[in-house]
Amino acid sequence: MNTIPSRFTGQTIIVTGAGSGIGHATTTRLHAEGAHVVAVDVVQHRLEQLADVLGERIRCVVGDLADDATVRAALDAADGQVHGLANVAGIMDGFEPTAEITDETWDRVLAVNLTAVMRMTRAVLPGMIAHGGGAIVNVSSEAGLRASAAGTPYTASKHALNGLTRSTAFFYTAQGIRCNAIAPGPVATNIEAPFRSTWAQERMGPLFQVTVPPIARADEQAAAIAWLLSDDASNVSGAILPVDGGWNAI
Ligand SMILES: NC(=O)c1ccc[n+]([C@@H]2O[C@H](COP(=O)([O-])OP(=O)(O)OC[C@H]3O[C@@H](n4cnc5c(N)ncnc54)[C@H](O)[C@@H]3O)[C@@H](O)[C@H]2O)c1
Repeated sequence: MNTIPSRFTGQTIIVTGAGSGIGHATTTRLHAEGAHVVAVDVVQHRLEQLADVLGERIRCVVGDLADDATVRAALDAADGQVHGLANVAGIMDGFEPTAEITDETWDRVLAVNLTAVMRMTRAVLPGMIAHGGGAIVNVSSEAGLRASAAGTPYTASKHALNGLTRSTAFFYTAQGIRCNAIAPGPVATNIEAPFRSTWAQERMGPLFQVTVPPIARADEQAAAIAWLLSDDASNVSGAILPVDGGWNAI
């Protein structure tokens, strides 16, 4: 990790999904670059391990982000100005095509991948505006750019997340808010992605034999998130940045 030690010194940044994968790598990187991090995750022991390693400048909030109480607890834990927000937490679907979607899967995927991000963003915006600005980075997906990378619920959630990102950027540019997203291809993390559809396997299998997308490391995603959160990206807003080793270009 090639960090820039003082890029976030004195800043408070909320990171969701901090217990694992991209959120864990993002928390570690922002902390190494001087940030105070409010780390949010539903899995308590993951946050405890992270806090043990990082020591100071980390506050942990354990809770399900689909529950608005967790959003409020994250804001309370920031206890003052929030300079940045990284909405990383997300879940996969079971690769269900539209005809096979259960209401349960649809509601859960949309609740975590979209509604929780809207609520977290809605919660931090008034403070950011009052303090003259802030940076928000959402974690979308290659499935937010194309239809063949996941099932319909996840694809719909990440396409909608791109809309949330761009609309937020549009409405609050004059207030100094920047809002961007990264769109990773496959990343080696703990995310669960079970194929629950035979039809999806038949439809998608041949595509992945023709084009094998490169598998990224979580810290490669964290580097892009940190850049978008930092003043190095001061003129970047409303962007959906593919971080996928070039998969989007195929
Ligand atoms: N891994 C990939 O291949 C990949 C590709 C593209 C996009 N993404 C996106 O990256 C983001 C991070 O995923 P990851 O791959 O690091 O997965 P991960 O499972 O390793 O980490 C996600 C973390 O979020 C937490 N989380 C999930 N739902 C939550 C909830 N409701 N409330 C609070 N915490 C919750 C989990 O406990 C976990 O610690 C997600 O938004 C995912 O859609 C991942």
